[in-house]
Amino acid sequence: MTTTPSFEQHCIEPACRSRYDLTEPIYVCPRCAGLLDITWTHAPPHDNYTLRALWRARTTSQAARDRSGVWRFRELLPFARDVSIVSLNEGNTPLYDATRCAAYCQIDSLQLKHQGANPTGSFKDTGMTVAVTQARVLGARLVACASTGNTAASLAAYAARANIACAIMVPTGQVSHAKLAQALDYGAKVLEIDGNFDSCMREIRELSEDGLIYLVNSINPFRIEGQKTVAFELAEQLGWNVPDHLVVPGGNLGNSSAFGKGFRELFALGLIKRMPRISVVQAVGAAPFASYFSEFIQRPDEATFVDEPHPHTLASAIKIGAPVSWPKAFRAVYETGGQVLTVSEQEIADAKAIIGSDGIGCEPASATTVAGIKKLSSAGEIRADETVVAVLTGHLLKDTDYVNKYHTNSLVDDDGQAIVDRYGNPPLRISGGRDQLRDVLARLAM
Ligand code: F0G
Repeated sequence: MTTTPSFEQHCIEPACRSRYDLTEPIYVCPRCAGLLDITWTHAPPHDNYTLRALWRARTTSQAARDRSGVWRFRELLPFARDVSIVSLNEGNTPLYDATRCAAYCQIDSLQLKHQGANPTGSFKDTGMTVAVTQARVLGARLVACASTGNTAASLAAYAARANIACAIMVPTGQVSHAKLAQALDYGAKVLEIDGNFDSCMREIRELSEDGLIYLVNSINPFRIEGQKTVAFELAEQLGWNVPDHLVVPGGNLGNSSAFGKGFRELFALGLIKRMPRISVVQAVGAAPFASYFSEFIQRPDEATFVDEPHPHTLASAIKIGAPVSWPKAFRAVYETGGQVLTVSEQEIADAKAIIGSDGIGCEPASATTVAGIKKLSSAGEIRADETVVAVLTGHLLKDTDYVNKYHTNSLVDDDGQAIVDRYGNPPLRISGGRDQLRDVLARLAM
């Protein structure tokens, strides 16, 4: 398979800027260890009007590469036209109006881009379809990742579709049952390691250096290429406008990096007129990026990124202390005038229940967004009349243990602190027969 000559891999470090062919299976710059971006050497050979019409027309096609919400934007993806894609019809996710969430955040309106509506229930699928397609292009025999659960579930599914062996490394006892169940069912070899996500990540990165595995964590720039298409889809859903604010949860920081890249490309092509402010929200116990950002704002010359050695949060998806993509995420936030902030375990749990009460729901990590928007709005950083989109990254059913505990007032955080069920909705045990039932139903109908 030949790759299109108009794309290349490119070190993001200003002092290096080395360039590499797309077929080189590298994850960071071999010269300086900087992160890699995939960039185009010349823009796609279409005018913007044609591109918009082409992308829109594909939504009514039956062809697999058109039905995918990632591959329908293929003019901006680094592959040959005839590449054999690995797809599960990912993308094309809904953008919901959430009135209860808006009221909770004291703003006029709030839209939720629900990436939990992807085939394996998280945003990872939009990146994985591209990374596993590249694995196929390179002839990889084994794909692998470290994961807090969603990357594992997604990779397991796409590797199965591609018929490529798959190994995933997870921290023992720290991944939700639902995510683990997905990976097992899709046939991945699950390797449970003592330690946390960061130790799994370190281990697998070192193991990837001799070429035994093809690593598909978000340090792999092909993952970011897939995830950037969510920015395209969102802009399209908003009539080729952007919101004033886009708010994303932050863990390993691939997703925020991808949104930055996606919107930057649309802006460079003239498909949008301005950039949204991209803000990242972290759980307070796993917030090395927020610490760095606030230090940078105060003392830009002295700020250094310090990993969090003991990350902790009940939002297990973002329990990460050494995020690999932070320089790209920093670029996305800083260039767009966004913020990086933290929210408490209680704030996450309450925001999650409010998102549920809108009939939408999400997993705990995703709810950092609404909790963060409430904080930004109270601080006057978001005005009531501004347009705001929160990205929900995972499906409600990814972590039902958390949900049931919250609604039955038995959720306790990692420090032993009880989470109060402020918006709890516990089940009601009916022991008084038909009379009690009628009574309860009559009150509900009032
Ligand atoms: N939300 C969910 C539901 C996630 O699963 C993750 C990351 C994030 C947010 C954070 O996104 O890493 O791009 O900043 N989950 C990874 C995993 C780490 O292994 O599934 P990020």
